[in-house]
Amino acid sequence: MMTYKDFYQQSLSDKEDFWRKQAWAIRWFDFPENILTQNEQGFYRWYKGGKLNTSYLALDYHVDNGRGEQTALIYDSPVTGAKASFTYRELRDKTAQFAGVLKNLGVEKGDRVIIYMPMIPEVAIAMLACARLGAVHSVVFGGFAAHELAIRIDDAKPKIVLTASGGKEIERIVPYKPIVDAAFEEATHQPEACVLLQRDFVQAEMKPGRDYDWMELLAKAQPADYVEVAATDPLYILYTSGTTGKPKGIVRDNGGHAVAMKFSMEYVYGVQPGDVYWAASDVGWVVGHSYIVYAPLIHGCTTILFEGKPIKTPDAGTFWRVVEDYKVKVLFTAPTAFRAIKKEDSKGLLKQKYDTSSLAHLFLAGERCDVATLEWLQDLLNVPVIDHWWQTESGWPMISNMMGVEMLPVKPGSSCQPVCGYDIRILNEAGDECTANEEGSVAIKLPLAPGCLPTLWENDARFQESYLSAYPGYYLAGDGGYKDEDGYIFITGRIDDVINVAGHRLSTAEMEEVLASHAAVAECAVVGIQDEMKGQIPVGFVVIKSDVDLTEDRLEQELIQMVRDTVGPVASFKRAVIAQRLPKTRSGKILRKAMRYIADGKEFAMPSTIEDPAVLEEVSDLMKRKGIGVAFG
Ligand code: COA
Ligand code: AMP
Repeated sequence: MMTYKDFYQQSLSDKEDFWRKQAWAIRWFDFPENILTQNEQGFYRWYKGGKLNTSYLALDYHVDNGRGEQTALIYDSPVTGAKASFTYRELRDKTAQFAGVLKNLGVEKGDRVIIYMPMIPEVAIAMLACARLGAVHSVVFGGFAAHELAIRIDDAKPKIVLTASGGKEIERIVPYKPIVDAAFEEATHQPEACVLLQRDFVQAEMKPGRDYDWMELLAKAQPADYVEVAATDPLYILYTSGTTGKPKGIVRDNGGHAVAMKFSMEYVYGVQPGDVYWAASDVGWVVGHSYIVYAPLIHGCTTILFEGKPIKTPDAGTFWRVVEDYKVKVLFTAPTAFRAIKKEDSKGLLKQKYDTSSLAHLFLAGERCDVATLEWLQDLLNVPVIDHWWQTESGWPMISNMMGVEMLPVKPGSSCQPVCGYDIRILNEAGDECTANEEGSVAIKLPLAPGCLPTLWENDARFQESYLSAYPGYYLAGDGGYKDEDGYIFITGRIDDVINVAGHRLSTAEMEEVLASHAAVAECAVVGIQDEMKGQIPVGFVVIKSDVDLTEDRLEQELIQMVRDTVGPVASFKRAVIAQRLPKTRSGKILRKAMRYIADGKEFAMPSTIEDPAVLEEVSDLMKRKGIGVAFG
């Protein structure tokens, strides 16, 4: 039997040989002449010269090879009461038909298409239809506001935008069209058309000449065939938060991605074609791209698209109901979802109502899994609970127990050991490797594995600067962590100003830009502090101008509304307080980390560069008075 250790060593000792063998697991139109190359800037590219089509691999391949009548996708929507399922043949036909709509609108290989849609089957169909034509989709999460959509429109410059009239949250309907209209108004780049799917609970107004009805166009379209694309052609751009107000456009290629998706299903998740696999996330995030749409379909599994929440839709037993109804073998979600479930059903009484015996194992990612949640789940489910670590940039797991190879003992708090293809090191500030249990910066020796970002969309310079310049020859992950004496890696959190709210990655810099634009604000800092349910939540500290005539409550309400309207409700920005001063270094850098440590009640060494330690005392008193942070709340 193959051991993890041997398999992992093989993946590093002869990378090209290893990934050549893995590439044979998917159907190429032309097998790549090169496995690994470097371009003129020295950036690595996998499978140059290979020709394939990702939509073909996810759909047509299965129809042509005996899976046409197997269920490919199940749609379950407790928020609307709708349920549907599609066989591989049906999903292929619907995708081909919608690709025909895109083609009629002039969409061609290389064109960008922005998708701003709720969790309905059409969103997966739209993504696969773009891939069919070689067009590059960029899905924007529905919880982002118009400004965020506009930034992405201006950066990706899409030919068209695809949307729906709205989505349903737990207690409210979210009309999407006014957000799309506002984004068109704000953006400099103007897409040629907007195609909208009307949902029966919310009707959108259409702008003649620009907006088209999805169903009307579909009725007039002819199915479009898949086109051949290069392995190195982009499949999609997915924007993610960085340390500035401008999100990063992570590029995913076709070839490396398809190989990585297939490989991860078999060796990381340990599932076989025909199994039911459920990633309870949203297609707006990387988890949704990889593990709701592409990987399960490329691997010939049945995937579930769930339009609901872990709680209140209708109750905290909904996840277990889905597991029973569809005999889910592997479930993947963020720990925050289970913290929410645990709060409502700590004894697991709702869980007892359902037969979850189909579940072989549970995967968690998006944020560190706290030990209490891990242990609660282990007791409740009696199946392996696997914390694993990855990022939008990688597109698939980088540290995980490889369940399809050999299960290593679980160490609570650790996401286990590196996945094949990832040479993960913990480096200190000088760039040397840390000793066992010494905390440092998580870095990956280049090249990264297939499927990882080859660059940022039309921004090689930012790619170089953000990821490759800190430690030459390494990719900088942006997380801190340590390795123990057995090689288990413990991720301790971001080392930059990115925060993680309910498994959603957000930039404090983006929120600070919004706060700073308020007329009363002289300067501000947004700090991600610990939160029992969401992992972290943002809190704004603002210093106001001297002539401001606003009560503190009123200012707080205005700032909260501004973040909601500009970044979106997903930011969960619910607190802003007035500070007399902000703690800074002598060179003027705000000491956000020290503020976070105070709120979280953690020990920290007073930064030697601090301008005036008394300011930290003031901020600490302010938090105490306002009940901010687990230390004072
Ligand atoms: N469209 C519009 N609004 C959205 C949205 C969407 N697609 N998704 C979230 N929002 C809104 C919510 O309605 C909420 O608005 P509110 O402030 O008016 O209540 C806000 O954004 C925050 O949403 P969320 O973070 O989902 O919090 P919640 O309080 O509604 O639910 C949880 C809490 C824990 C149940 C929820 O965060 C959850 O399901 N988390 C799982 C995370 C996950 O799947 N992560 C993906 C990575 S694997
Ligand atoms: P995203 O790009 O949205 O997937 O967010 C990636 C970031 O989420 C990582 O850089 C980590 O900070 C955090 N993250 C994801 N998974 C884990 C995990 N299993 N443990 C700790 N942090 C995680």
